[in-house]
Amino acid sequence: MKLIFLGAPGAGKGTQAEVVSEKLHIPAISTGNIIREALKNGTELGLRAKEYMDAGKLVPDEVVIDIIRERLAQPDCANGFILDGFPRTVPQAEALDRMGVEIDKVVDIEVPDEKIAKRMAGRRVCPDCGASYHIEYKPSKDGKTCSLCGAELVQRKDDHPDVVADRLRVYHEQTEPLKDYYGKTGKLKIVIGQEEVADTTRMTLEAIEA
Ligand code: AP5
Repeated sequence: MKLIFLGAPGAGKGTQAEVVSEKLHIPAISTGNIIREALKNGTELGLRAKEYMDAGKLVPDEVVIDIIRERLAQPDCANGFILDGFPRTVPQAEALDRMGVEIDKVVDIEVPDEKIAKRMAGRRVCPDCGASYHIEYKPSKDGKTCSLCGAELVQRKDDHPDVVADRLRVYHEQTEPLKDYYGKTGKLKIVIGQEEVADTTRMTLEAIEA
């Protein structure tokens, strides 16, 4: 199963990708996580991406296309994968087509902008292992440290309200046109993001199996 999860920043792509990945035994590939890891390790890619990410802008297409080409060549992708956060522009989708990747379903998780702002304000992440929480909807065990590795949770720089507004603008301008792109292929499934994570998961699985 080769899947793409589309949606605005904070719509819940990463949250759903994690659950569906476990259920279907396929890797979830987040370009955002790959870039953040590179940043943490101080690699050239990380340093190149930092200024774009911190400002809520998209990293240049050629950079993320190379990341995905390399990642999809890994053996664990042989039986399928979930792309979370890629493609994000029409040129990225065209590049994926040129790689000869046959996508089965594109799940678009829809959440209104007002709700997104609230979700981002409450998101906390683990700087060490990358686990993601929400102070209200998905708290860690003690609310302060990572339930998996014990590191102190932090807020992502790009989750500050002014940057979130910019990310939403970028999403509407550059990523939303992908709904048309994939709508034409008949592979697009719309899932309305629910208040409860489990409800969105149920609807996402139904959309994948439909
Ligand atoms: P990336 O890390 O991909 O960020 P994003 O797409 O903006 O998505 P998020 O991780 O913010 O949100 P999400 O939809 O995964 O939501 P989540 O599940 O965490 O990218 C960051 C940056 O990297 C970009 O801005 C760009 O600079 C660069 N980049 C990455 N890919 C790129 C590409 N292809 N091209 C160019 N640049 C690229 O949920 C959010 C919060 O809500 C969490 O706290 C969660 O617990 C909570 N939540 C989730 N579901 C629910 C629910 N149903 N009810 C209540 N709360 C919920």
